[in-house]
Amino acid sequence: MPKIIAVSGKGGIGKSTLAALITKFFSENTDKKILLVDADPSISLTLMLGMDPLKTLSNLREKFVTSAEAAQEAMFGDKHIRDTIYDECLQNGGRFNLLAMGRPEGPGCFCSVNELLRYGIESVSKNFDITIIDCEAGPEQVNRRVTKSIDDLILVIEPTVRSVQTALYIKKVAETYGVQKSFSLHIILNKIGKHDRTKNIKSILSSEGIKISGIVPLDENIAEYDSIGKSILDLSHESPSVKAVGEIFTFLYLQKEVNFVRERELDQQI
Ligand SMILES: Nc1ncnc2c1ncn2[C@@H]1O[C@H](COP(=O)(O)OP(=O)(O)OP(=O)(O)O)[C@@H](O)[C@H]1O
Ligand SMILES: [Mg+2]
Repeated sequence: MPKIIAVSGKGGIGKSTLAALITKFFSENTDKKILLVDADPSISLTLMLGMDPLKTLSNLREKFVTSAEAAQEAMFGDKHIRDTIYDECLQNGGRFNLLAMGRPEGPGCFCSVNELLRYGIESVSKNFDITIIDCEAGPEQVNRRVTKSIDDLILVIEPTVRSVQTALYIKKVAETYGVQKSFSLHIILNKIGKHDRTKNIKSILSSEGIKISGIVPLDENIAEYDSIGKSILDLSHESPSVKAVGEIFTFLYLQKEVNFVRERELDQQI
């Protein structure tokens, strides 16, 4: 069964970084066909991975708006809109494909791009085993049901109360409106340093009956790659963040570990 995973949370928390590391994990440890969706109009993930910032759904939409002929052909011609999205927007990243939303030219509303994105995710993801969506910060895209058909919602937090509040709000939007099927929720605590205090956020989460699914440490190598513009897909397996994402996703998706051992380890870490 194809699986759709959305990565969401507060701004600047590490959503794009984690979406890239999750893609790295699946592409290096499984033979699954992977689709990575850059759903953020600022296309920072696309840029982070050194891919083409012009091959976007937004540019495709622009083409439809400016050329009635192109729209006619895409909507009513022999070619299905899904195939048009495939040809015009899908980028080959080697062991994965990338679909980027992009931004509309000039001032404008994102509604129609979000609409196209929702359609794009639904139709294109059927041809992939795993789709990983890097969402725009905050609850907006969940609210617009861009993520309505997801199987797993990964909410990224850091050791701050605000990031937990945003995550809980996104969870609520997803449960009450945004996601139209049953889905699994996983909270990932990112950028954690040795001296960070986590007692407060742990107690907020536990009062909501939520446990943290995994911890990704603050990784110097990510900062270094970021500063020289190198793709984090090339990070070594020894990098603490790559190791942590590997352990979390092996447990969550490949289920090679025993449940209680993992929970005990997590409790000791935070
Ligand atoms: N585990 C980590 N260790 C060190 N730095 C990290 C880690 N995770 C993310 N970062 C850094 O934090 C910054 C924000 O990360 P990222 O762009 O992935 O966040 P985001 O949630 O996608 O942001 P936005 O809301 O703008 O889309 C980047 O400089 C990134 O390199
Ligand atoms: Mg981002």
